Amino acid sequence: MKPISIGLLGLGTVGSGVIKIIENHQDKLIHQVGCPIVVKKVLVKELGKARAVSIDPAILTTNVEEVINNPEIDVIIEVMGGVEQTKEHLLQAIRNKKHIVTANKDLMAVYGGELLTAASDNGCDVFYEASVAGGIPIIRSLVDGLSSDRIKKLMGIVNGTTNYILTKMTEEGLAYEDVLKEAQELGYAEANPASDVEGLDAARKMVILATLGFSMKVDLADVKTTGITMVNEEDLHYAKQLGYTMKLLGIAHRDGDDKVEVSVQPTLLPKAHPLASVSNEYNAVYVYGEAVGETMFYGPGAGSLPTATSIVSDLVAVVKNMRLGINGSYAVAPQHEKNLKDPEE
Ligand code: NAP
Ligand code: HSE
Repeated sequence: MKPISIGLLGLGTVGSGVIKIIENHQDKLIHQVGCPIVVKKVLVKELGKARAVSIDPAILTTNVEEVINNPEIDVIIEVMGGVEQTKEHLLQAIRNKKHIVTANKDLMAVYGGELLTAASDNGCDVFYEASVAGGIPIIRSLVDGLSSDRIKKLMGIVNGTTNYILTKMTEEGLAYEDVLKEAQELGYAEANPASDVEGLDAARKMVILATLGFSMKVDLADVKTTGITMVNEEDLHYAKQLGYTMKLLGIAHRDGDDKVEVSVQPTLLPKAHPLASVSNEYNAVYVYGEAVGETMFYGPGAGSLPTATSIVSDLVAVVKNMRLGINGSYAVAPQHEKNLKDPEE
């Protein structure tokens, strides 16, 4: 069968992981989709930069048009980051009938609806499992595994960088700046780590989870967000002495009137709480459904290969849909209206 051709936007921490998985798991992937997967073009900013993977220089480009307008490419994998310009590139790719797989929560939290509508109008898929909680298949679990239930509450440690910082400060007494630097070197932090430490990255992820979990549109501007920049070593020391541990927690709650409240803030958890033992870059998402009760999803929330695993699994889902001639983006029905709790109530 004809190979599936990929256009990769970005070859950094996550993009390199995507190349590794496509190469190293090619047999498994062929078994899943019935044909080879070939990376046709890769967009980067700097052609001469040292890379974490060996790559044919002939497929590298700095011209995005060579990827998104390339008639030989079936699927665009977007792992470059950015919002406004990136949205335009992906819309252009969708108009060219290309399916999209993205890890970009900044984009999906704000323009997810627009991209999904454009995709649906053009017979394309948009998959974005890697945008929340790295290697944990939480989006798929919400839209597939728990689709029959009525989700009442979502609670999670959804930012690996801040969890890494809080863990190392608490357990090893390391200084905030040193651990942040380490998290950057390990590839967990965003290009601008302010969005990690100020809680915005977690807020974006909670918007995506709440939108899908509660099947209603949730706006980023309505999420009350506090990061960890004000947390100091003393706070963590006393919390530990009192039997608590500090976590940056995202909470999304739907009440009996179907009003939704979403927030992100540093939270003291008793040591016995199931989320208290989630350490380093690991994430966990607690989901409470009316029928299923309590469930919890745990795994690596950031990093090259865990994140790339979600991306390549999304790619497999896209190709399976292509084979069946169907579409199946992660989406909620478009008729659902914004329905947020008035903070003054
Ligand atoms: P990264 O290491 O900084 O890599 C970004 C890549 O995109 C680089 O290869 C860069 O090219 C390229 N790029 C960026 N802007 C570009 C532009 N304007 N034109 C052409 N190329 C451009 O970032 P990352 O950590 O892989 O993250 C990528 C995306 O995945 C982001 O949306 C991030 O939020 C998301 N994500 C990351 C993780 C994680 O653990 N790192 C986990 C989940 C989701 P050069 O290499 O030439 O500079
Ligand atoms: N910067 C993000 C984090 C990457 O630390 O969780 C994964 O989305």
